[in-house]
Amino acid sequence: MDFYTTRLLTDAPEDITVAATLLREGELVAIPTETVYGLAADALNGPAVARIFQAKGRPMDNPLIVHVADWDEVAPLTAEIPENARKLAQAYWPGPLTMILKKSARIPDEVSAGLSTVAVRMPSHPVARAIIKASGCPLAAPSANRSGIPSPTTAAHVLADMDGRIAAVVDGGECRVGVESTVVDVSQPVPRLLRPGGITPEMLEEVVGLIEIDPAVTHALDEGAVAASPGMKYKHYAPKATILLIKGTSEGYVAYVNAHRGDGVGALCFEEQAAGLQVPAVPYGRQDDPASQAHGVFDALRRLDELGIQTAYAACPAEDGMGLAVYNRLLRAAAFQVVTLNE
Ligand code: TXA
Ligand code: MG
Repeated sequence: MDFYTTRLLTDAPEDITVAATLLREGELVAIPTETVYGLAADALNGPAVARIFQAKGRPMDNPLIVHVADWDEVAPLTAEIPENARKLAQAYWPGPLTMILKKSARIPDEVSAGLSTVAVRMPSHPVARAIIKASGCPLAAPSANRSGIPSPTTAAHVLADMDGRIAAVVDGGECRVGVESTVVDVSQPVPRLLRPGGITPEMLEEVVGLIEIDPAVTHALDEGAVAASPGMKYKHYAPKATILLIKGTSEGYVAYVNAHRGDGVGALCFEEQAAGLQVPAVPYGRQDDPASQAHGVFDALRRLDELGIQTAYAACPAEDGMGLAVYNRLLRAAAFQVVTLNE
């Protein structure tokens, strides 16, 4: 792998021009989006896309999302655009929604990992949109973290993982949503939710009627099972600390954690719970505010490691609405270790 002096760029117009030029030359640039930072390359340049996998240490069979700035860019990337895709785009693009569509021959194998489909998203972040437009190419971009660990929601997170491995990072501040986009497969008659995110199941159903929720959203895949979304079979979002997800009331959670206090033990809790805890506490959002939890969860997972916490008990978010996206990430961070309190 090449070694880079990674440039830290701002979101000023002249720096956006620098980022776009690097991308056109086949280099990797981390860019802000409204969900998490993405590690971008020209999606139509196979060798450039292959470098993303090297920089992240990502398995080559896990396909990437292609980011566009305008609706007209979608048709050349896809074999067909079903009615459900049009309706969802109308309702939620630009925004935190990725659609799986049948791909066209223009999509390099590096992007789609040999599948017959391609994931497409139109981000709403003004800096992401400006960079896509200035580069003149669709951008393949996974989350800009080293494979397996929490996604980056600040430029500092990106540098912690990628300094020396990529040409540049564009600092656009903290990501608003904080968890990755909703992924929905619209290449089949009944849309199927593969990854929950900022666009909730309820919001999808408002537009396309009933959807299916892939079992892997809330359950570990059986050994040897084929994943509808290859990313779901990998260890994900995991800090060095061991996470246990605690299901129960708020009072039950606080009592359980305090009863288990000891060396290296910490809490990944809601803000309201921190004062009552007798172990180092890292709040990840407010109790009845899943959007605040989504915004804070990846930074909080990284902070557990900074504090040297070895075992963290995590307060369980709601399992519907925006909560489902947070629950899905914490389940994986916890490697599906859940404690249900007997209260
Ligand atoms: O919010 C986001 O989606 C961020 C920002 C940068 O846009 N990107 C992101 O990319 O989260 P990544 O690569 O970390 O996650 C993409 C997910 C993976 O689980 C992958 O397996 C799935 O989308 N995916 C990509 N192409 C697919 C396809 N053709 N069929 C099924 N799943 C696909
Ligand atoms: Mg990722």
